[in-house]
Amino acid sequence: MISELKEQFQSELSQTNLSDEASVEGLRLKYLGKKGLVTDLLKGMGALSAEERPVFGKQVNELKEEVSEAIEHAKEKAASFAMEKKLSVGKMDISLPGEGYKHGSTHPLYNIREEIIDFFANMGFHVDLGRDIETDWYNFEALNTPKDHPSRDMQDTFYLSQNAMLRTHTSGTQIHYMENNKPPIKMIALGHVFRVDADATHAPMFQQCEGLVVDENITFAQLKGTLALFAQKLFGENAKTRFRPSFFPFTEPSAELDVSCVFCSGNGCRKCKGTGWMEIGGCGSVDPAVFENVGIDSEKYTGFAFGFGLDRIAMLRHHIPEISLLTSNDQRFLEQF
Ligand code: DAH
Repeated sequence: MISELKEQFQSELSQTNLSDEASVEGLRLKYLGKKGLVTDLLKGMGALSAEERPVFGKQVNELKEEVSEAIEHAKEKAASFAMEKKLSVGKMDISLPGEGYKHGSTHPLYNIREEIIDFFANMGFHVDLGRDIETDWYNFEALNTPKDHPSRDMQDTFYLSQNAMLRTHTSGTQIHYMENNKPPIKMIALGHVFRVDADATHAPMFQQCEGLVVDENITFAQLKGTLALFAQKLFGENAKTRFRPSFFPFTEPSAELDVSCVFCSGNGCRKCKGTGWMEIGGCGSVDPAVFENVGIDSEKYTGFAFGFGLDRIAMLRHHIPEISLLTSNDQRFLEQF
């Protein structure tokens, strides 16, 4: 009887689908459950003689152990089959590290803006923001740039009405500030400006920083000292500055501010067209005509002004080849800062 049952179990086990946990459990119940076949054997023990009983009992227990072991083994197999199936269906790679939180990084233009504010605020400059829309007076006229002045050609912009436009530079903030404040004046103003302009290094919208100092006895020497220090702050202590004669209607004399090339340290390379210098902005001594326009006595007061582009500085600082990268919101680009 025992050996028959054993054989029966072996053959049923070999036919059981081992990848199915329920079938294996069914097999266990059939043999080892309360009403299982192995359990039934023990129930028949009462009919045996006192000598037969322990021998039979021992054999049944051995069978029971054998069956339990085989079923335990089959269960393990079924469980690992089930896990493999789950993994292959869900395609979950449990070796991947968890996802971290991304906090982003500050924009390169924002960083430069903060550095500029930090530098000039420490030197006692008031920080102003100005407005994106200006009238003809603030953008041109008061800055000594009358309607037919040729320099207006370089600053074509978007007009909202005959008299209102998106400002082409931050220089209008000088006028607003001088209309509302008496000398001594030390201010910078930062913000967006707009021009009909678009190529690798020019965008229709970019950011500028304007600066104005007005007091008695202000000279071009102070302008040079201030901007030389500023260039060192932005490009490192070895940065050299050069003031190249130029023209702006609102300054006399006027100059372009050049900084020694950040790519070749001034030796001359392709980026600086072999000159060793890179232009970062314009500057000069305030033209007396501008003072007259805002009611400041040009006999008593003198001043200097400057204006430069933040985008240009960011491009030089980080070796960025295309200005549009700064506003295209490409995460792969922004993550580098
Ligand atoms: N507004 C000029 C521009 O956008 C830059 C500039 C030049 C500003 C000379 C100044 C200055 O304040 O004195 O090209």
